[in-house]
Amino acid sequence: MSANREQFSSRLGFILAAAGSAVGIGNIVGFPVNATKNGGAAFLLFYALFVVLLCLPVMIAEMSIGRHTQRNPIGAYRRLAPNSKIWQLGGWLAVITPFMIAVFYMMITVWIMGYLVGSITGNLDKLAQEGYFTTFINSQQVFFYLIGAAALITFILHRGVHEGIEKAAKLMMPALFIMLLCLVAFVLTLDNALAGVRFYLVPDISKITPAVLSGALSQAFFSLSLGMGILITYGSYIDKKQGIPSAAKFVVLTDTGVAFCAGLLIIPAIFAFNPQINTDELSSSSVSLIFTFLPKIFLTMQATIGYVGASIVASTFFLLVFFAALTSQVSILQVPLAALEDELGFSRDKSLLSLAVTAGLLTLCCAVSFGMVGFFTEFASYAGQTKSFFDLVIDIFYDTILPLNGFIICLLVSYKWKKARFNEELEQGEPSYRGTLLERYVNFSLGTVIPLVLLIIFINTVALKFFSHNLLGF
Ligand code: PHE
Repeated sequence: MSANREQFSSRLGFILAAAGSAVGIGNIVGFPVNATKNGGAAFLLFYALFVVLLCLPVMIAEMSIGRHTQRNPIGAYRRLAPNSKIWQLGGWLAVITPFMIAVFYMMITVWIMGYLVGSITGNLDKLAQEGYFTTFINSQQVFFYLIGAAALITFILHRGVHEGIEKAAKLMMPALFIMLLCLVAFVLTLDNALAGVRFYLVPDISKITPAVLSGALSQAFFSLSLGMGILITYGSYIDKKQGIPSAAKFVVLTDTGVAFCAGLLIIPAIFAFNPQINTDELSSSSVSLIFTFLPKIFLTMQATIGYVGASIVASTFFLLVFFAALTSQVSILQVPLAALEDELGFSRDKSLLSLAVTAGLLTLCCAVSFGMVGFFTEFASYAGQTKSFFDLVIDIFYDTILPLNGFIICLLVSYKWKKARFNEELEQGEPSYRGTLLERYVNFSLGTVIPLVLLIIFINTVALKFFSHNLLGF
């Protein structure tokens, strides 16, 4: 099992693969939607605080658990806390969560693929029409794209760790970043875009609510691929000569940089296209926001580069986002896949097949939950709202469980594995980590402040989301 575990072929390979996992739909779609919905700069402020103060230490913890134990999360938890049913439950949670996240992630990947094909085939003007998104997600085309995306992902997973992920990440990630920067520059030249920049960068303290905190925390965990055993699994493929803290810092920086730019692209565009917008209206934003505004931004370029030029830009951008979504999706599925292989002794093919069938069926349930099938469209009802199957999966596995998984990891490292051994693992490959401010901060906070904050936000999110009850009182 662990003896012949594949390894990333180089330090750069690991870092890029981890960054490839982190940068995805969460950055391009999730971050701007959440920032728009949660008061712009108020959200950005807490997002940044959470990323540095809570997420970076959790990321370092996850990577080192993986490298130390050379296991998937279930095996890793068992190794660090032998004979303990409670901890093993944590391990299972860290496997089920990515499995369910893969389901709604697939749905959004499929939509991106649809928009990619739409722009390549010259239909950019259609994509930019009001209401197109709703029509599209309820059309039968979605099923074809679903099959296409599923086949691609299965193929990539089939080819193994370094070949599939590493090679492609080296090229596409920087390309996505550069393209994002160019698009931001373009959007900022549009009239009224600066009103959006203000909304995004100047915090309005009155907009800070527990929902903003919860939104920022879930988004930060999701975007950095934390709380899902991904970095435990990836960590198990890093060799001992590599420095974990500096790799973690790089991943955090890249991921946050991309998310920040995506916000700086979408939010000013919203204000440029709707100069009269009332910022209170924005609090009901959803994923459709991105699928409405991106095509509009591209279509506006028509005046300068013509329709074909605009379609080429749109196609390239959707292609890069689609690629980022694929690398992330592959990394998400890597966790349950490794768990099936290591824990149940399945062959890689059998594990892949089991996942493809189960995740595929659940994604189908999501696909029909936007109006096609009543049962899945009105699947559950809580906190005074009717929720679709897709919403329910997001509410539970994206909004609620991630901070809980982070909480468990903090306790596991601090109280089971113990700090001395944790630091020893970290100093391997990066001796200069010893005595740094980061080391002191991580040592102090990983067993105290971080789990406490995660627990409080987790409890309040459950109360807020499922019972419309705000326990924090502000
Ligand atoms: N972090 C990825 C994104 O931002 C999504 C992801 C989640 C990847 C969980 C791996 C694990 O899109």
